[in-house]
Amino acid sequence: MNTDDIVRTFLDFYRERGHEPITGSSLLPPPSDPVLFTTSGMHPLTPYLKGRPHPQGRRLVNVQRCLRTTDLDEIGDLTHLTVFDMLGSWSLGDYSHPQSLRWGYELLRDGFGIPREKLYATVFGGDEQVGPDLESLGIWRELGVPVESTRDENWWSNGPVGPCGPDSEIFYWTGDGPPEGSPTGDPRWVEIWNHVHMRLERGEDGGLVPLRQVNVDTGMGLERLASVLQGCRSVYDTDVFEPWMRVLPTLWDLDERSLRVVCDHLRSSAVVIGEGVRPSNTGRGYVVRRLIRRMLTVLRRDDDSRTVGDLPGELVGGSTVRGVVLEEERRFSQVLDRGRRVLSRPEFRGVLGDEAYRLLHDTYGLPRELVVGLLR
Ligand code: SER
Repeated sequence: MNTDDIVRTFLDFYRERGHEPITGSSLLPPPSDPVLFTTSGMHPLTPYLKGRPHPQGRRLVNVQRCLRTTDLDEIGDLTHLTVFDMLGSWSLGDYSHPQSLRWGYELLRDGFGIPREKLYATVFGGDEQVGPDLESLGIWRELGVPVESTRDENWWSNGPVGPCGPDSEIFYWTGDGPPEGSPTGDPRWVEIWNHVHMRLERGEDGGLVPLRQVNVDTGMGLERLASVLQGCRSVYDTDVFEPWMRVLPTLWDLDERSLRVVCDHLRSSAVVIGEGVRPSNTGRGYVVRRLIRRMLTVLRRDDDSRTVGDLPGELVGGSTVRGVVLEEERRFSQVLDRGRRVLSRPEFRGVLGDEAYRLLHDTYGLPRELVVGLLR
């Protein structure tokens, strides 16, 4: 199944069950929104999860482009991406969470052909404020899918305040041999789908109150699902990354992890620049700047003659995007040269303390991350 087939199968499944397909929102939320980027499918739907009637009804389905920088240090592993597409379904105060789990299992088994043996579920085991999710536990047992309870890993919120609730996550066995262990103890169980019982709201005081309506919010990363269904070792081996992985290894001889980081950061920067964001020292621009500079640091670790100029423009979405990345590369090179000059001064010899880092940052405009990289 290529990603188009996967998306079609997902949308058709929910359409047949009364869900209206809604257009994904922009990756850049409106100015009234406090977040820089859309980080999940539910984020643009927040007012409707809180009770405002949605013009397209109470059952919705979509594909939402998302960007997350919370997992930046995990980028380079087999499953995390900075920019990804999320397949989402919602019940806005309509059907129940158990119904969502049943449909989820049905789609994985019949729509995507995943055998039950390869699945494992987790459910919320309860904490001081909310009791254990015995209902979901019962559903998974009834469906014959192994299940375990956790605390923090099975609680979903989109920030410190706002809609939240216990969730049930579905994991897929990616190991070579027969499945063993469980998601909390064996990383070869990879999370593919999250079904959130979004029925509570956390206030400024940390307290929880019931939302006006009981919702279900599900989200499944498209690239990760594709890697499972296409039998790939990593998301980078799926059809989504085919153009990148065909070209990048022919340009640069990088180890596997570095190649993945370069690929992810280049693609994410290209997407965000394509949305009109330009590298800068604040807000969204700073996110792009960090992505490009992290990418360049990894790219040039063994050979500082490597440059984004080696890239064909089509790969990054056109000559404008390529030009922006190249300009940022030029600026970064200047900063590095200056950094090297400053660091060669006697006062910066030896191990640097917090005071030195502060001075380098405040007086010379050299962030700690960059200094650490230079010293390495
Ligand atoms: N909001 C949940 C998530 O992002 C499910 O969509 O995982």
